[in-house]
Amino acid sequence: MNSLQLIATGGALPGRTVTNQDLSRTVDTSDEWITTRTGIRTRHYCTEEENAATLAIRAARQALERSGLQPEQIGCCVCATLSAPDATPSVACQVQAALGLPEDRPALDVNAACSGFLYATAVARGLLTTMGGQYGLVIGCEALSRLMDPADRSTCVLFGDGAGAAVYRLGAETTPFALTLGARGNAAIHAGGPSRTGSAPISMDGRAVFRFAVEALPRCLYTVLEDTGMTLEDLAWVVCHQANSRIIDHCVRALHADGEKFYKNMDRHGNTSAASIPVALNELAETGKLQPGQTIACIGFGGGLTWGGMILQYDPLWQ
Ligand code: ACO
Repeated sequence: MNSLQLIATGGALPGRTVTNQDLSRTVDTSDEWITTRTGIRTRHYCTEEENAATLAIRAARQALERSGLQPEQIGCCVCATLSAPDATPSVACQVQAALGLPEDRPALDVNAACSGFLYATAVARGLLTTMGGQYGLVIGCEALSRLMDPADRSTCVLFGDGAGAAVYRLGAETTPFALTLGARGNAAIHAGGPSRTGSAPISMDGRAVFRFAVEALPRCLYTVLEDTGMTLEDLAWVVCHQANSRIIDHCVRALHADGEKFYKNMDRHGNTSAASIPVALNELAETGKLQPGQTIACIGFGGGLTWGGMILQYDPLWQ
């Protein structure tokens, strides 16, 4: 399997920061309940001028600049989102126009909820392999604040908005790489679309999703470790979807793993669905916690239900 290498990241967070304290003034909840049940302390919401596409453009521009590539070198643009402002033009097409990406390359959105970034990465890899090109731009972006019922305490405390972007290089088969994806149609997480009258806000059977997540996460991690012949010790970081710190802690215990390797930032951003993994990757790269040549795993799970796992190398010094 041709590998993908991560060569650059970018990120964008919207302008409005909302604390647990803020939410406790509008719904019957408390900082104590939210922190102990989820690990979330603050999240960011889009201002009136912002949406999933404006965040995606900012994150993508930063990743492209950091990659050192010219727009014409980008072979495809794939965007993962479930909260695009418009059905068309897609967010990916808006990024194409804003960044001046070539018109003779594909640009499309993918919706696989919280696993979306991994699905979009797989689509980009497939496009580069079949249509040609060496570099792919993949974005995860969400404005979940626009899909929530602000009066529903069981969901409004969980979600936030944001965007993260990655530039990948299609590399040699010798570089560590594995990708696994799966789906099981089930409405345990539901959000209405424009075709439904009175479009329903996000609702979720929290306990069922928790049970699903603690089963899917280790399974995906084992699959990609087995595919690459690697062990957890070979990985610098495991970047899981940032839904709930208790889900990650549960898996760390089940795997008898080193919890320090499992990156967490849901305390600052909440659950940003498709954006959560690329936002985390960008933070790791920006702060130097992720070093050139290191190998990482990314694991996603969420609405659909969908899941996915990936192992790849960070190689920003490839030029
Ligand atoms: N503040 C205070 N109390 C609350 C709140 C709140 N914000 N929300 C729910 N409660 C109450 C409930 O009403 C319930 O009260 P009751 O016992 O009197 O009926 C009690 O707290 C316990 O509720 P549970 O839902 O059982 O709480 P739980 O411990 O399961 O935590 C949570 C809920 C945080 C949602 C958890 O189930 C979870 O994280 N699930 C997984 C979510 C997830 O991973 N989603 C990822 C995918 S999202 C996507 O794809 C878009």
